[in-house]
Order: sequence, then structure tokens, then C-alpha cells
Amino acid sequence: METPQVKYLRDYRPPAYWVDTIDLNVELKETDTLVRSTLTVRRNTDEADETTPLILNGRNMELMSAMLDGNPLSEDQYQTDAEHLTISDVPARFTLETTVKIQPQQNTSLEGLYRSGGMFCTQCEAEGFRNITWFPDRPDVMARYSCTIVADRKKYPILLSNGNLTDSGDMDDGRHWVRWEDPFKKPCYLFALVAGDLFCLEDTFRTQSGRDVALRIFVEHENRDKCDYAMQSLRKSMKWDEEAYGREYDLDIYMIVAVNDFNMGAMENKGLNVFNSKYVLAKPETATDADFWNIERVIAHEYFHNWTGNRITLRNWFQLSLKEGLTVFRDQEFSSDMTSRPVKRIADVRVLRAYQFPEDGGPMAHPVRPASYIKMDNFYTVTVYEKGAEVIRMIHRLLGPEGFRKGTDLYFERHDGQAVSIEEFVGAMADANGADFSQFMRWYSQAGTPEVTVKRAYDAENRTYALTFTQKCPPTPDMADKAPMHIPVALGLLGRDGEDMPLQLRGESEPGPTTRVLELRAAEETFEFVNVPEAPVPSILRGFSAPVRLRAGYTDEEQAFLFACDSDEFNRWDAGQNLFAKVMLRLIRDIRVGTAPDLRPDMIESFRQTLRNTDLDKSFIAQALTLPTESELAILMSESGDIDPDAIHAARHFTVRTLAQALKSDFEQVFDENRDAGPYRVEPEAIGRRSLKNLALGYLGKLETPAVSRFIAAQFQKADNMTDEIAALSVLSHMDCEEREPAIARFYERWQSDVLVLDKWFALQAAARLPGTLDKVKALLEHPDFSIKNPNKVRALIGAFCGMNPWRFHDASGAGYEFLADRVIELNAINPQIASRMVAVLNHWKKYDAGRQALMKTQLERIAATPDLSENVYEIVSKALA
Ligand code: TRP
Ligand code: ZN
Repeated sequence: METPQVKYLRDYRPPAYWVDTIDLNVELKETDTLVRSTLTVRRNTDEADETTPLILNGRNMELMSAMLDGNPLSEDQYQTDAEHLTISDVPARFTLETTVKIQPQQNTSLEGLYRSGGMFCTQCEAEGFRNITWFPDRPDVMARYSCTIVADRKKYPILLSNGNLTDSGDMDDGRHWVRWEDPFKKPCYLFALVAGDLFCLEDTFRTQSGRDVALRIFVEHENRDKCDYAMQSLRKSMKWDEEAYGREYDLDIYMIVAVNDFNMGAMENKGLNVFNSKYVLAKPETATDADFWNIERVIAHEYFHNWTGNRITLRNWFQLSLKEGLTVFRDQEFSSDMTSRPVKRIADVRVLRAYQFPEDGGPMAHPVRPASYIKMDNFYTVTVYEKGAEVIRMIHRLLGPEGFRKGTDLYFERHDGQAVSIEEFVGAMADANGADFSQFMRWYSQAGTPEVTVKRAYDAENRTYALTFTQKCPPTPDMADKAPMHIPVALGLLGRDGEDMPLQLRGESEPGPTTRVLELRAAEETFEFVNVPEAPVPSILRGFSAPVRLRAGYTDEEQAFLFACDSDEFNRWDAGQNLFAKVMLRLIRDIRVGTAPDLRPDMIESFRQTLRNTDLDKSFIAQALTLPTESELAILMSESGDIDPDAIHAARHFTVRTLAQALKSDFEQVFDENRDAGPYRVEPEAIGRRSLKNLALGYLGKLETPAVSRFIAAQFQKADNMTDEIAALSVLSHMDCEEREPAIARFYERWQSDVLVLDKWFALQAAARLPGTLDKVKALLEHPDFSIKNPNKVRALIGAFCGMNPWRFHDASGAGYEFLADRVIELNAINPQIASRMVAVLNHWKKYDAGRQALMKTQLERIAATPDLSENVYEIVSKALA
């Protein structure tokens, strides 16, 4: 194998040739699909002259013919290799017509044109268009597209592409054709095509300027009753983007197609989104509260891309966060407005800490704007998406909502129709507000999670309070020394009564609001407050105002106080989590040295008070009383030594069980009080009740008595919605009781015809903490409903075992590692994108004890030595081993 080539941001050059229009003609067949493409090409004279060849990308296709300005090209006029078509002598303007033969029915990588069940569909981001036809496959080449699709009328009555349907007709051989034209210029990664026999749910949306837009959701006929929520979510998103950003939809039709085989969540193709069916299909009997929540979020995300991504697109792939960070920020704000702001913030920060912080501290660490990559697919990461959104959120915090809106208005006005860089976005923010973001730009170029340490000093005599902040960003594989960042720290001070104090900084004539944003810029900085009547407890980094690790040096008592009183709900939750984590880390130490673990009564009491607090939002209580997971504890443990998965499991199990025993009657009461009387509804209040009720069920399950397992099995039987049904079944799945197997079997019987519900069935068995789980997972690989070609199934079975079941996966025998490596090697040949996602679990091998390290390393080396290793897997494994 040749060593794959690394691409660098610093090497970026604009293209040598532009493509102004592309006309596609796609003849879909069961084998040998033909793609004819006609490009009008224009030399970019800033970059190229008559000696510059035209180089197009392409792969996995057979070139049938090529014509330049109508004349067939002879074989000496062009060259092809595995990835390129090079024509050395071309005029300044010309048309190029190529015809290629491709085999979508054999495409298991799910990029380019492929089959999902009975339909054809495409996925072109990031570099999939080159699997369809010869083209300069890069986002700064923006062309106008037209596309004629020809296919069998019976099998594929629905033929879709981007833009507007302009013509159609029948042929006399049983085929028909449809022509689509997209009036908006776009990069080829936004091209889409779909063909199939699909049900269509229709609706309309009237825009703020009074235009009617046709909304269409296409799904397999059997799913016709599961599209309403997606449609409602789309309408809400369209309305919200008009109100929050003044952004209106631009075409007369907006289409969403749900497919079962999809590498990611969904794709924002212009006017024709393609979705993983998991983010479209839902009804109360089959989808959980979390599923509904995710559908609304992902529909919004893809819709918002129409302005942040499509109308204004990327100059090159290094700028990915320009569209993804910004669009995630937009969908987070949308979800906050639709549900509960603090609960949404807590959920987002949980994801950031559980996945992005480790990425930032591991072998794949990269800045929000990566400086290099081998395979772009590997950079659709939590850093680019979620940390990217945090960076936008900091800009929002620094400018305030009005200033931020001024900035986005200017950005849309200046750059509509262009392919731009992150500089253009931050530049618009700065120009619209007269702000200086030069130091702030380091958030885009420096990887690693900054650590912010706080020292406090109260001077009772002078009634002053000084906070000294130091910041330090740890080295990452790409960069040893980091410069200080511009960090907004939102802060409040609590008095002994638990109330916020008015805040007056030295030099100010009167106190300001009770939450202030301090802007750190230097490695060390002191802020002094005056007229402070007593030593306060500071509430630092309110709302998680920056993606940093905070070291505030709180005592347990201070954390318990903040957990009970902080007016900032995020920090209130965070104080509780930090306190629980600290307690469990101590238990881990006790367990490791053989001391009997013990839970302090004041911790139990503080837990009970939150559980029974009737002033708090129920979803918030459920979040506050969800203890840090084993994975979260592993991250904390790795900060001071090797991760010990056995001790972590033992400590968490002990904590949950002790709380369940001590608070049994409280949990029972909470369960009873929060039963739903009426029909299932997806509303914050009802969701809150269900989450609190099912949290109680989870704790009760740890009691593991026959009475409890009977009770939980009864809840499972009675459930009339998937949220309750799966909650009960997953509690049972961890219990060694006689009700377990029959319940799992019954669930299968009931849902065997629903592929999405079966994903839950696979995942829950893979996540079970019982000893035989790996053998069960191996057996399920052979189950007729499992397919390694379907990414959702891979994530459900293999992903859940390796990612959600750390105790069993990290079994000291190494059997889990060997199992994962076998699957990665198998997937490498089928779907490299999914293979590289799976192998990334091993990235953190150096954080474990010597025994496990050796076992994981052996498997990484075995994967690295696989013949025909894809670039995707090579990039991850070589960085992990470096
Ligand atoms: N742009 C998509 C999003 O909304 C991401 C995406 C969908 C993707 N499918 C993909 C990225 C396939 C890489 C490969 O976030
Ligand atoms: Zn996106």
C-alpha cells in the first residue's frame, strides 16, 4: 500500500478551472448505470494559463466516452489514473461531455450513488461526487445543475433531484424520465438524486414574504404513519429561522427522503435532504422522547444549512466548522427555544465533555479548523461540530444577541452565493460591531482543552474580593506550545443566604448585574470586586460560557451549597455532578486499596432533597440525579492515572445501589406521582414526568430483588409508548432475573418488522452489564435481522458494546478488543467511513493499565497490517499508534 497523502490548509490554491453549469443524464439500471455529464468549463485566469491542464476527480467508474466541444477525445489527448482524468490541452472556455458506467448496486461504502433497499440514493459530502462522474470535486467550484433521471416506471415511480421539476415523460420501453433544474449555484457535495417507490407526505409553508413552499417527505410505504412529527419539525424550523435570523427559504419546494442505509445523521443537499430514517420516522409506539427530540433537532439542523452551508458555502474542507459549528449553534438555540434552555444546555455540555474533551486530549486532537487531513471524512468530529458551536456561542456571548444578529446579517449580505472561509464569518462579526477578534481566532487554530484555574481572596477589612485566573492549554500532537486564549467567563457571587450579590468591579461607580462576563486574555489575570459584604461562593463559568476545564478548588460544602442554591441552572447541575464525581472517585480509590466503600449521609440527603424538590423542572431533576457515567468517570480518572474499568464499575454500582436502598420509598413515590394518566404527548412537561419516573425505575432496578424485577417487568408489559417500554426493558436487561429473557423475546416478537425499533433491541443487549454479553453480541451478529452493511445496525450492536459498555468491553482478557478489531477489519472492506468510526474507540489505549495497553496495541497493530487498509482507517490507526 502507498502511504496516503496528507493535505494541508497552507497549500490551498483556488481552482485552475471553474465549472459554470453541469447537465447530468443518469440512466438507472439494476446493473451498469450510465451517467452522461456535460460541463461548461472556464479557465480561472488568476490561477492558470493555456499550459495548465484540466484535472478532474473520479473513481470506481468506467469511462465510455469523452468529447471536448463536441469532438471525441482520442486516447492520446487525455490520461486517467485511479483517481483523475487529466486533459492537458484545453481552451479558455469549452464544454466537456463524459459518459461513465458505474455500479451503484455494488456500492457498500454508501458514498456516491448507492442502493438502500429498493431505492437509489446519493451521498456526496465530502468527496462522494467523484464516484458518480468526472468533476472538480471541491467545494469552491460552484455550478448550476440540471439533471435528467431515467428509470423503470414501475420500480421507481419517484425520481428526485435538486431544485425544481421542469419536465418529464414516458418512454415506450416501460421507463420514464424526469428533469430537475436547480437555479442556485452549488458545490457538487450538495448534489442529490433519489429514485424509488415511495410514499409522500405533503404540506405547504407560507414564508414571511407570502410565498408558498411545497413541503414533501418521502418514505417507504410501510412508514406512511410515521412522518407527521418530522413535518411539524420542518415547519417549526422554517418559522424559527425567519424570526431568529430573518432567513427565508428560497426554492418553491423542500424535500426530505428517509433512507435506512446512511453513514451519518442526515444531509443538507439543496432542496433535497437525505436523512437516516432514524431522524425522520416516529410515532409514540415506536419512538422515545429522545428520538422525537433528535428528529426535531436534525430536521432543523439540515434546514438551517440552507443559509449556513448552501447559500454561503465553504472555500475548502478545512473550513468545515464554518458551516457545521455555526449550524449546530443554530440548532442548539432552536431546540432551547422549543424545549427547556437549561436542560438543553446540560445535555450539550455532557456530550462535549464526554466526547470532545477526550478527542482534544488524544491522538486525533485537532483545532476547530484542522490544519491537515488524510481523509476528510475523519474530520466530521465533535471538535468541528460541537466545539465549533461553542466557539460561535462565545462570540454570541461576547457580542450579545443584538450584536450577534448584526453580524450574521452582514455575513449573509456580504457573502451570499460565495464559498468563503472562517475569516469571512468572524470578519463580519467584528465589522458589524467594531469588535476585535484577533486573539479570539486562536480558538480556530489551537487544539486542546484550556485549563482555567481560579484563586480567590476575600479581604474582610476592605470588603474586596479578588479572583485570579490562570489559563494553560496542554500540548497536543500537532502543537507543543499554545498562546493564551480570549476566554469569556460568566460569573456570579453568592452570599451566605444563597442569593446573587450585585457585582461591582474596581473602578466602577456602581454595581452592575448579578452575572458578569469577564474576558480573560492573558496567561494570568486578576479581577477585583469592591463592596463585597462577606466572603462569597463564586459561581464561575455560568452556562458553561467557554469550553474549558475549570479548576476552582471548591470544597465539598461549597459544591453542595451551589447545588442547592445557584440561580444559574447549568452551574447548579454542574456543582452536583462535580460533587458526585468527587465522591465516586474517592470510592474508586477505596475499592482499589480494599477499604470498604461508604457513602456519606449528607450526600444521600442532598440527593433526596433534589429528588423531592417540587420547585424544580422535572427534566432538570432527572439530569441532576443522573450520576456521571462510567465513561465520564474514566475521563476524570485518567487525569491522574490509569483508568481502572473494574473499580469504576464497582464504585458506580455501589453508589447507585446505596442510593436506591436508602431512598427506596422516595423513588417509589416519585415513580407513582409521575405516572402519566392521559395519552402520550411530546411536550416538555410530559417528557419531564417520564424522565423522572424512569430515572426512579432505574435506581429501583439496582435493588435486584424478585419483587423489584416483577414490578419492572409489569411496567414493561403495561407500557403504551416506546419511552416507557424501552426504559423498563433496559433496566431489566442489566438484571440477572427470570423476567429478563422472556421480556427481550417478547419485545422482538412485537417489533420484528420495524428495523428502527430492532436497533434498540440490539443496542440494549449489547449494553447489558451481565457477564455473558460479548458472547451474546457475537451470536447476534448471526441474527437474520442483523446486517454489517447497515450502519445503524453496526452502531446498535458493535458500537453499543464497545462504546456504551466500558466494563465488559475493557475486560482484562482482551476479548473485547479482539472482537472490535475483527469487525473493523471486516468493515474496512465494506464501508471505510464506518470502520474508522468504530476503530476510534481504541484511540485512548494509552490511558489504561499496562496489561490493557498491550492488548489494545496488539489489535491496533493487527488492523494496521491489514492488506488494502482504507485511508480512513489508516489515518486513525496510524495516529493512535504514533
Ligand atoms: N453535512 C452533514 C451534516 O448535516 C454531515 C454528513 C452527512 C456527512 N452525511 C455525511 C459527512 C457523510 C460525511 C460523510 O452534518
Ligand atoms: Zn451539518
